[in-house]
Amino acid sequence: MRNIAVCGNQVTPSIINNDLIETIDMEGIKVNFGLIHTNDLEFDRNAPENEFMVLIKTKAFSCNYRDKHFILKAATKAPEKSFYVIGSEFVGEVIDIGSKVTELEIGDRVIGDGCYPHVKAEGIRPGLPTNNGSKEYQKFHQTKLIKVPPEMPDEVAAAFQIGGQTSYSMIRKLNIAPGENILVTAAKSNTSLFAINALKKYDVNVYALTTSMQFADELKQMGVKELIQIDPQKDSILENESVAAIVKQIGGFDCVIDPLFDIYLGKVIKAIAIEGRYITCGLYNQYSHLTNQDFYYHGSSMGEILSYALIKNIQIIGNCIGYTHDLRQAINDYQQGELNVIIDSIFDTKEIKDFFEQTYNVKHRFGKVVYKYN
Ligand SMILES: NC(=O)c1ccc[n+]([C@@H]2O[C@H](COP(=O)([O-])OP(=O)(O)OC[C@H]3O[C@@H](n4cnc5c(N)ncnc54)[C@H](OP(=O)(O)O)[C@@H]3O)[C@@H](O)[C@H]2O)c1
Repeated sequence: MRNIAVCGNQVTPSIINNDLIETIDMEGIKVNFGLIHTNDLEFDRNAPENEFMVLIKTKAFSCNYRDKHFILKAATKAPEKSFYVIGSEFVGEVIDIGSKVTELEIGDRVIGDGCYPHVKAEGIRPGLPTNNGSKEYQKFHQTKLIKVPPEMPDEVAAAFQIGGQTSYSMIRKLNIAPGENILVTAAKSNTSLFAINALKKYDVNVYALTTSMQFADELKQMGVKELIQIDPQKDSILENESVAAIVKQIGGFDCVIDPLFDIYLGKVIKAIAIEGRYITCGLYNQYSHLTNQDFYYHGSSMGEILSYALIKNIQIIGNCIGYTHDLRQAINDYQQGELNVIIDSIFDTKEIKDFFEQTYNVKHRFGKVVYKYN
C-alpha cells in the first residue's frame, strides 16, 4: 500500500515499487517527502478485536497547520533510517467491516470524526482518528468515521472534517444573535475560511482581519462586509484607523473567532464590546523550537487581557475540535448548499513536492490543498 511520509536521509526508495522521494525547504529545514510502499493491512472481519472495526481504502487526504509540527519534528528528530507517515484529514471507501459494525456498510464513503472531548465508545480515545491519514489502507473503530453524501466530491471530503467540525463548534459556543458584529481573524486561514462560509446562514455582519489583501474580492463575495489589513507588529488593532472607525461606530465587536490566539488575542481584546465573546482554537507558535526561529509576541499582557475581560464582562472561550453533531450539521449544510468549501488545488500521486509546496510554502494559497491517489 502507498503512504506519504517524511523520510530520513538514509531511507532508500524502492525502484521495484516505484517509490519516490523529493525534498523541499520548510522554514529553513530540508524535508524529504516520500511516496513509500509498505505491506497491505490485513483485516480479519471475524477476529474479536475487529468486531467494531472498519477497513477503508483512502482515496484522498490533506494536511493542516498542526501537521507542520509533526513534519518538522520528524525531519529534525526522527532516526535517519525511519519514515513518518503524515496526514490529518482523509476520505476513504469502506472495503470491509467487523461482525458487529452497525453504522457503516461496505461501499460507504467516509471521513474521520474527531469528536472531542467526549468518548463515544469504551476504550476509544476522543479527538482526531489519526495523524497518519495518508496510509492507503486504514482501520478505525466505527465511531471514528462518518459517512459523507454523494453530493460531496472526494476533494471536498478530504478537506472537510477539521475545518467543518471546529468552525461549527466555535459558532455553536458563541450563541450568535441576529444583527451581531462578528470579527474573524487570520481571514485566509482554512479555519477562518470555513467559519466565514458557515456564518453566511446567520444574519450577522462579518468583519475580517488579514495580513495581506490577496483574495480580497473572494472574501467579499463570501460575505465579508469589511476586510482590513493589519500590521502584526502593532500591539492593538485599534492602532489601525479603519478598525478604530468601525469600533467607534458599532461599539465593539460582539464576537471574535480567532484561530491564532498568540497573534491576535492581545491585539483584539480592547476592540470587543461589553459582554462580547472571544473564541480561539489554536496558536501560531507551534514549531519555533524545531526551527530555532524566535517568536516575538505583540499585544496586551495576560494581566491586561484578563483585567479588561473582567471589567467588560467579556467571555474568553477555548475550543478544541467539536462534537459529532457539529460535523454532521456541517455535512448537512454542505449537502443543502448552505456551506461552501474552498479548495485551492488538487494534486495526484506523483506530485508530492508540488502538494507540499502549495500546502505550506506558497503565499497565494486560498483554501485547502488536496492530494488524491489515482
Ligand atoms: N484545536 C482545534 O480543534 C483546531 C482545529 C483547526 C485549527 N486549529 C488551529 O488553528 C490554527 C490555524 O490553522 P489552519 O489550518 O486554519 O491554518 P492555515 O490555513 O495554515 O493558516 C494560514 C493563515 O494564517 C495567517 N497567518 C499565518 N502566519 C501568520 C502570522 N505570522 N501573523 C498573522 N497571521 C498569520 C494568515 O492569514 P492571512 O493571510 O489572512 O493573514 C495565513 O494565510 C492553527 O493553530 C491550528 O492548529 C485548531
